[in-house]
Amino acid sequence: MPLTIGIPKEIYAGEKRIASVPDVVEKLIKLGFAVSVETGAGDGANFADQTYSAVGAKIVGSAAELWSGADMVFKVRAPTTDEVAMMKPGLTLISFIWPAQNPDLMQQLAARKVTVLAIDSLPRTLSRAQKMDALTSMAGITGYRAVIEAANQFGRFFNGQITAAGKIPPAKVFVAGAGVAGLAALGTAVSLGAIVRANDTRAEVADQVKSMGGEFVKVDYEEEGSGGGGYAKVMSEGFQAAQRAMYAQQAKDVDIIITTALIPGKPAPKLITAEMVQSMKPGSVIVDLAGEQGGNCELTVPGEVVVRHGVTIVGYTDLPSRLSKQSSTLYATNLLRLTEELCKTKDGLINVNMEDEAIRGLTVIKDGEITWPPPAPKPPATPPQAAKAAVPMPEKKSAHGHGPGEPMPAGKLAVVFGIGAALFWLIGAFAPAAFLGHFTVFVLACFVGYMVVWNVTPALHTPLMSVTNAISSIIAIGALVQIAPPLSGVLNRPDDWIRGLAFVGIVLTTINMFGGFAVTRRMLAMFRK
Ligand code: NAI
Repeated sequence: MPLTIGIPKEIYAGEKRIASVPDVVEKLIKLGFAVSVETGAGDGANFADQTYSAVGAKIVGSAAELWSGADMVFKVRAPTTDEVAMMKPGLTLISFIWPAQNPDLMQQLAARKVTVLAIDSLPRTLSRAQKMDALTSMAGITGYRAVIEAANQFGRFFNGQITAAGKIPPAKVFVAGAGVAGLAALGTAVSLGAIVRANDTRAEVADQVKSMGGEFVKVDYEEEGSGGGGYAKVMSEGFQAAQRAMYAQQAKDVDIIITTALIPGKPAPKLITAEMVQSMKPGSVIVDLAGEQGGNCELTVPGEVVVRHGVTIVGYTDLPSRLSKQSSTLYATNLLRLTEELCKTKDGLINVNMEDEAIRGLTVIKDGEITWPPPAPKPPATPPQAAKAAVPMPEKKSAHGHGPGEPMPAGKLAVVFGIGAALFWLIGAFAPAAFLGHFTVFVLACFVGYMVVWNVTPALHTPLMSVTNAISSIIAIGALVQIAPPLSGVLNRPDDWIRGLAFVGIVLTTINMFGGFAVTRRMLAMFRK
């Protein structure tokens, strides 16, 4: 009997998100599930009841009805005590839970004999898990929205302008902590035309900052800040003093500070002191994303906007909910990907496979038994931050079932070589001599091309194409030969029109050559770490 997924209305004050959206509900139904949605649950994100019923969901009138009829429940915010009381034994709940911060809730849930998948406990360094990574989706939205909030409070343009009424300098933005939210904020502020600088304790993010158009500001103190898993560690006293001195300088210079610094399981590091706020220009703005963990700025009031020493400090803790349609859509997609992992049979039934590293990490309660924290993860094959920030790339398999760079099985290889050798013998024995010369060049070209292209990572194929295009401008040599002035006594002086065409050829291939190399350089800069 296929399971019913229930999507209740979020009851946390001010929460506008919903755990699934109509497009995704349609896909859940295709996976074999029945879906019921509490009436009005999508209102905050502008998804009316009818949009859900139109794709086949059942609209139910109350939370009690929804919880009693569901085998699985998708939620955004961790359930309240009232919601826990409505859970029936055997239910599977997928939601944000934050098990470390909510031990009481964990006990209550275990007592209800339910299974709980905490989306915040996904092992983020597993590249296979990126499609389910709701923390990253929400942090990306948070960074974007932080800039929009800053722009809303800031009384000037972000980009520099020259107008009839005078020259306007670009705004200067400083991002403290260049993790997911910080990099999203940086990208957004750069796209609005601001000068953006960023700092982080993890040295590896410096290149990411630069590749997104920002300037990385280093602390004048040698200490590695990576605490493993793509997260930071608490820094030494000496480092913190040097960092404070640098932040104090930046505070005097910039117009907007966006702070995102976070160390998992620790209160947010206090990076912006009251004196730094006082030293900022009046009208400046601070957006402190770490409000929920105590704030990166000493004067932040979590959840509120306050003005201190003429500086507006935004401490909102609900930024994803302030972009509810977007965040609901991304969250719903993350949960859909997770559901696909749980229901590989596509028959509306799930298998919480504790052998799967991603599912094991997520599962904090299994049939009433607390399974959090999971055993220590196996060390990742790739550097953790790279895995976290990388764009997921589909695994390429050739028709033979092996990917680029992977060796072919020995048996297959022998057959391919055998056929190849027989073909070459036939051509060598019967083809005319003139053909053989050209054919040898052709075979060598294929071989070199194969060796060059096959060993290039698929992600670099676009710059490879542009550089190949640039190299093809070697045909300029042909044009140069044609345009060369005749040597005295040499016959066959090219016609003027041929020389004219050769000139055009040289101009065009020059554009192709220099343009091709320039484009390749820019593309490669995006990949450099
Ligand atoms: P993340 O862990 O990817 O990034 C945090 C960054 O801060 C890391 O790159 C880390 O190296 C850096 N950092 C740590 N200590 C530092 C220090 N002393 N100096 C400089 N950099 C330091 O976290 P993510 O996902 O980007 O989230 C950023 C913040 O946004 C977190 O505090 C998170 O709780 C918060 N958040 C806030 C929301 C809101 O509505 N206000 C919603 C979602 C996230």
